[in-house]
Amino acid sequence: MRVVSGIQPTGNLHLGNYLGAIKQWVAMQDAMPEGDDCLFFLADLHALSQPVIPAELNAHTTEMAATLLACGIDPKRAILFNQARVPAHSALHWILGGTARMGWLGRMTQWKDKAGKKGESQSVGLFTYPVLQAADVLLYQATHVPVGEDQKQHLELARDIAVKFNTDYGDTFTLPEPFISKAAPRIMSLRDASAKMSKSDPSDASRINLVDDDDTIASKIRKAKSDADGLPGEVAGLAERPEARNLVTIYAALAGVTPDAVLAQFAGQGFGAFKPALADLAVATLSPIRQRLTALLDDRAAVSAVLADGAARASVLAAPTLAAAQAAVGL
Ligand code: ADP
Ligand code: NA
Repeated sequence: MRVVSGIQPTGNLHLGNYLGAIKQWVAMQDAMPEGDDCLFFLADLHALSQPVIPAELNAHTTEMAATLLACGIDPKRAILFNQARVPAHSALHWILGGTARMGWLGRMTQWKDKAGKKGESQSVGLFTYPVLQAADVLLYQATHVPVGEDQKQHLELARDIAVKFNTDYGDTFTLPEPFISKAAPRIMSLRDASAKMSKSDPSDASRINLVDDDDTIASKIRKAKSDADGLPGEVAGLAERPEARNLVTIYAALAGVTPDAVLAQFAGQGFGAFKPALADLAVATLSPIRQRLTALLDDRAAVSAVLADGAARASVLAAPTLAAAQAAVGL
């Protein structure tokens, strides 16, 4: 089994990123049988499909890597690297560009959503983004790729590219399967439960940042929107109470239990009792992460060394497949 997954380097990571993405990676790493490989990369090449501020891209890559390490990604058990330091991603991307069809890419809903009616003025990179994603996983003969709902179509495309390449030039690539892990929770804003918790929300009170100190975490939870009712015994009872449902979802995700298990514990209690319990749990989980993160951000050279080591190990795994693909097309 070989799992490959990437995430764009961004700054100011928050609780939604942790519970919705990073924690899933850590669980995947911890579940990997001995001898199998987990490759996690920071998609800094993908970031170039939108305008970037060079100094920020560089800093975000380091900060994202530090965050992953602080959250439990263990470089002894997983290979952590940034895409740009493994040039085979770019090399294979170009080769696969000869196989991918314009029509296939034009049908990608993410392209259509992001480009809208302004496709002509978008970067070529935004259009060919899914070809680079295909290269990211085919390069390692990935067997499993964790995908959220929004990425399923891109994984299908990677499989279509692999099938056509294998048919045109001979068997070269493994067809990756989607890795359906336990559904990642979707964490909503603490101020407006109809919007997801996001770094781009102008209200800092809407999210818990991974760098927030304990008092800030507790105060944001205390001030989070809720309602005056007691908690019901089952999740069905939260259907019309998005704020309450969000806080229960956060508790469940932090505790690693189901929302129904949380409600079994707190049924009948109001937010006067539930919020302090949630704040304690959030602080207990996030405080050690923040302390590790702070230490890593004070020692960026150590983080860069982890990424360099990861890139070297990834390059070794990538080399035979890139060579096979080059040979297959006659390069
Ligand atoms: P943001 O919305 O803050 O810009 P990104 O789009 O950079 O976050 O997302 C990075 C990763 O974190 C993705 O895998 C995404 O699915 C996950 N993620 C982001 N926000 C949330 C959220 N509110 N709840 C659950 N997962 C989230
Ligand atoms: Na985003």
